[in-house]
Amino acid sequence: MTFSIIGTGMYVPPKIVTNDDLSKTLDTNDEWIRQRVGVQRRHVCTGETTAELAYQAALRALENSGCTPEDLDLIICSTISGDLVSPALACVVQKMLGASCPAYDVNSACSAFLFLLETAAGYFARGKVKKVLAIGAERMSKLLDWQDRGTCVIFGDGAGAAVLASGEGYIDSTISTKGNDEVIRVPAFAGESPYSTLEPERPFIRMQGQETFKYAVNAMCSDISKLMQNNRLTAEDIAYVVPHQANKRIIDLACMRLRIPIKKFYVNIQEYGNTSSASIPIALDELNRKGLLKRGDNLILSAFGAGESNASCLLKW
Ligand code: COA
Repeated sequence: MTFSIIGTGMYVPPKIVTNDDLSKTLDTNDEWIRQRVGVQRRHVCTGETTAELAYQAALRALENSGCTPEDLDLIICSTISGDLVSPALACVVQKMLGASCPAYDVNSACSAFLFLLETAAGYFARGKVKKVLAIGAERMSKLLDWQDRGTCVIFGDGAGAAVLASGEGYIDSTISTKGNDEVIRVPAFAGESPYSTLEPERPFIRMQGQETFKYAVNAMCSDISKLMQNNRLTAEDIAYVVPHQANKRIIDLACMRLRIPIKKFYVNIQEYGNTSSASIPIALDELNRKGLLKRGDNLILSAFGAGESNASCLLKW
């Protein structure tokens, strides 16, 4: 027994920052960002916390699934940008929802929602849970150096959620990690220990753009090919690929190499930017609410990110 997704939800803060807005304070422009990344605008928190984004997405997913917080056996959040180091974001959301089940976070950067699904699948396989609330929530705006045009134009804030219930929808998955902390790195805030001899690092995202790009295309292509081969699927058998929304050019290149028509890749980076681990559940919710998914459709979700951690899974809707 694994799980099926029975409801989805998403939430983004109302404040929209366009490329033109950014070009007022940065040496950048709309044309560069659209062409090199594919982002046109992103939603950015003003007074909202990461927990509020997660809570709003969770409410919508619960409503969509017909479940209440009392029905939940487990809440897992994926995040690298929670409001607190401890307790976990999932604990804060549990309290906001009034739920009483166990709750914890998974951190695997932009791939974390798929690592979360793999974790949840283990609980279902052992018959430990019947309903799980899965949330990806990120306030990337607080991890950005807003003077660094190589990173701040890419990311955005938002949350997506899904309610998982016992079923046979999680067909196959592949997850891997190389343990690289150089291509993308987000140092944690360092305290003020009088004994520390370590040089404090600025707690903002640093990224080697081109290295990340190459890794991302290779990871997506090899993960998706593996799932298709293992499950004897051709491009015709796939209804949608839901890729992590990091860069439209990464998606275009992967699509060409995989020979899957671009119309099967769901893309919304133009609207939200890269919302890290929230990007896949946000995209899933959009597909669901637009009525683009039919029962029995094969979906491939595919993500990659810091740590050179990547994951893909095959879902039957
Ligand atoms: N606006 C205008 N110019 C910019 C710019 C911006 N926002 N950011 C960088 N540039 C400039 C650079 O300074 C450089 O100028 P130079 O040629 O005068 O030195 C030029 O554009 C090209 O820079 P480069 O870094 O080679 O561009 P790129 O085509 O590799 O695009 C990224 C940069 C970051 C958009 C791209 O590498 C990328 O998306 N990588 C993957 C990142 C990613 O997916 N991260 C998340 C993983 S989960």
